[in-house]
Amino acid sequence: MTPSPNQKKPDPCSFVIFGVTGDLAHRLVIPALYNLAAADLLPDKFCVVGIARNGMSNDDLRDGLMKGLRQFATRPVDDAIARRLLECVTCIEADPKDPASFDKMREQIERLEAARSTGGNRLFYLATPPSAFAPIARELGRTGLLQEDNGAWRRLVIEKPFGTDLASAQALNAELLKILSEHQIYRIDHYLGKETVQNILVLRFANGMFEPIWNRNNIGHVQITVDEKIGVGHRGSFYDSTGALRDMVPNHLFQLLSLVAMEPPIRFDAHSVRSEKADVLAAIQIQSEEEALRNSVRGQYLGGKIGDMMIEDYRKTEDVKPASTTETYVAMKLMIDNWRWAGVPFYLRTGKALGMKRTEVAIKFKQAPFTMFNCTPVDRLSQNFFVISIEPTEGITLQFNTKVPGPAISIDGVEMKFRYKDYFKAEPSTGYETLIYDCMIGDNILFQRTDSVEAGWQAVQPFLNAWKKAGAKGLEFYKAGSEGPEGAEELLKRDGRNWRKLG
Ligand code: BG6
Repeated sequence: MTPSPNQKKPDPCSFVIFGVTGDLAHRLVIPALYNLAAADLLPDKFCVVGIARNGMSNDDLRDGLMKGLRQFATRPVDDAIARRLLECVTCIEADPKDPASFDKMREQIERLEAARSTGGNRLFYLATPPSAFAPIARELGRTGLLQEDNGAWRRLVIEKPFGTDLASAQALNAELLKILSEHQIYRIDHYLGKETVQNILVLRFANGMFEPIWNRNNIGHVQITVDEKIGVGHRGSFYDSTGALRDMVPNHLFQLLSLVAMEPPIRFDAHSVRSEKADVLAAIQIQSEEEALRNSVRGQYLGGKIGDMMIEDYRKTEDVKPASTTETYVAMKLMIDNWRWAGVPFYLRTGKALGMKRTEVAIKFKQAPFTMFNCTPVDRLSQNFFVISIEPTEGITLQFNTKVPGPAISIDGVEMKFRYKDYFKAEPSTGYETLIYDCMIGDNILFQRTDSVEAGWQAVQPFLNAWKKAGAKGLEFYKAGSEGPEGAEELLKRDGRNWRKLG
């Protein structure tokens, strides 16, 4: 991460990680803190507190984190920087099932804060399974550790999933809001840490030419694709009770959808941006269960080869039920009921064990209404797609028609491409640096607010209900390494459309 000239160091603070011995802390949180340290963007007065249910010595924790850092760092580790960071780490034993341990933890944290002169500012990062969110928050609330006082800020960071359906998301939010104010809650969706995702805002609102055509008068439909090559791997137990829809749609895909479809905010601040995003999610048409069945496709992968990698049937994956009906692929059609988007379908698809990794938003502009070129009737013109590529290619592509050189009029489709790497040099990052830095400076523009989390679940709930009732009926199978179930093609063909072909 290269600091930009207006990036200041955050206030002194303590950074308390629950689940410090887990995968998320080792793989992402500590490497991101390391990158911030390397960019000199950590506070001068700083401490990291690692909370483990079974305590360990500071040295053992630091050794474990160092090992993780060497494995997951996005750049060669500079020992001096790593040592300076890890010297700030203290291990504390606490378990929300044992309230006395939280009382003791409070005293220990306060002692550390005094020694490090952090001024009482605290950030609690819950890198734990979701079932622990509410119990930990309750204990933090009871012990007063989240109470903002004497000018000190207190913040809580939680990772997705925020609930598993509308009711559980509402219950979690209600519980958190009993303990904290909305401004203290930082719900991380790692898609918002991606430069290319943040750039959607800049692309739309720092250029005058897009806004006048960014609406139903000019745009025919929108396609959002998040294809993954990886299968479920060792996450069988989590994934089998989750599925592709819950895992990806109300969070990552809806982040993309809301940035593409939101109204221009009146200011670039957290309140204005998050309000517009929440509004557009709330405008997604709520479908009946019959409509949801008609407007969706779910698939599950069968074994196959992806490159050199053999993937076994999803149902044979460790910790997956042998007759599981959990979807590993979903495609759906959504409508947005507002003036800008009325009548413009948004087609979303995401799946695992597919032939290639690709994340993109493709905006399909309406065809020319008429063509005077006899050689190429309107329906044979190439399609006008404006493509925002998020991963692995980072860039923007515009497809349009042009004359093939020669005496006769002949028309062909061409592409104009912008690639980030041709213009900018970026240090490899985990994608968490910006998010963690923003938590420390108190900017929650990139974090999900209660209303948008709930609006997202509200829109997908009919699909969850309909599929639960349908069980195995309607579940399609696709071969690992393919483009997904055939029904996904049908979903668009029915409307006289097709998915944008892979580049
Ligand atoms: C996670 C999901 O939130 O996002 C994973 O739980 C998924 O199943 C991952 O693989 C995708 O993230 P990215 O950044 O690789 O598109």
